[in-house]
Amino acid sequence: MREQVDLRQAVNAVSDVVQNRPRPLREFDQIHMKTGDMVLQSEMVADWADGKRLAFIGDGDAISVCVAYLNVRKVLDYGPSKITVFDFDERTVQAVKRFADRERIEHLDAVLYNCLDAFPDTTKYDRFYTNPPWGASNSGASVNLFVQRGIEAIGYEGEGMIVIADDDELPWPKEVLSRVQSFSRDHGFYVSRMQRKLHNYHLDDAPDLKSCNLYVSSLPDNCSKAAASEAASPDRLINFYGRSKELRIKYVKERKRLDYGMAHEDEYELIPLEESK
Ligand SMILES: C[S@@+](CC[C@H](N)C(=O)[O-])C[C@H]1O[C@@H](n2cnc3c(N)ncnc32)[C@H](O)[C@@H]1O
Repeated sequence: MREQVDLRQAVNAVSDVVQNRPRPLREFDQIHMKTGDMVLQSEMVADWADGKRLAFIGDGDAISVCVAYLNVRKVLDYGPSKITVFDFDERTVQAVKRFADRERIEHLDAVLYNCLDAFPDTTKYDRFYTNPPWGASNSGASVNLFVQRGIEAIGYEGEGMIVIADDDELPWPKEVLSRVQSFSRDHGFYVSRMQRKLHNYHLDDAPDLKSCNLYVSSLPDNCSKAAASEAASPDRLINFYGRSKELRIKYVKERKRLDYGMAHEDEYELIPLEESK
């Protein structure tokens, strides 16, 4: 049995992480999860990956940072033993590294990586987590590329948590869920659990669209299926971030180090008292 979590401390810790999070770029499907859902999601991930090495394939939401921080702040007395974030946005990578450095979180790190390339890390992770582009315009092909990198990160053996759209009224999330489940099965994984319609997002054009946690687990002896990681073929990059939005960008580079929790100087102007008269 887990001890009861101090909700105030948990929300305040997640608030520290949100302050440090780069603002989302909509053209790459960066759409942040709402803060209340991040608190609940972080606890679930910490429990699921307790004592395990966990790879995040993309993580603009910063669930990775919440999970690690809740543990070092002793809000949760469980969580992964190692967390690595693989993301093509250098702002995210640097924000994770700076936060880990400032809060002395030794088991949290981030790597600049585009999932169109072969997976770079030879560490064997035990679990993967991904909240990828949701593949509305390519029947889930973008999700499946992120899932493939997750499967490679764990050497085809272990478990994954895939966070994707879940909506009974729309046709495309059902199509994507079905494609992701068959892709997982083709790689020796089965759906071991599904938590439906859990998370809300700051998504102005579809504020009611929710996502689920789809858990996949490897079949026995599945590591024998492991194949060398390779770059993705161009057909997998079509409509990657939505209709006519192919994956063409290698990295989002950080131009300037920003303190995201503070107003930026070009957002405002100070009018002295005497000039306002
Ligand atoms: C696509 S967003 C999905 C929405 C999610 N709620 C979020 O905002 O993080 C997830 C993460 O994937 C990253 N990402 C997008 N395209 C990528 C790529 N080609 N390779 C690696 N990471 C990528 C984004 O930078 C973001 O951090």
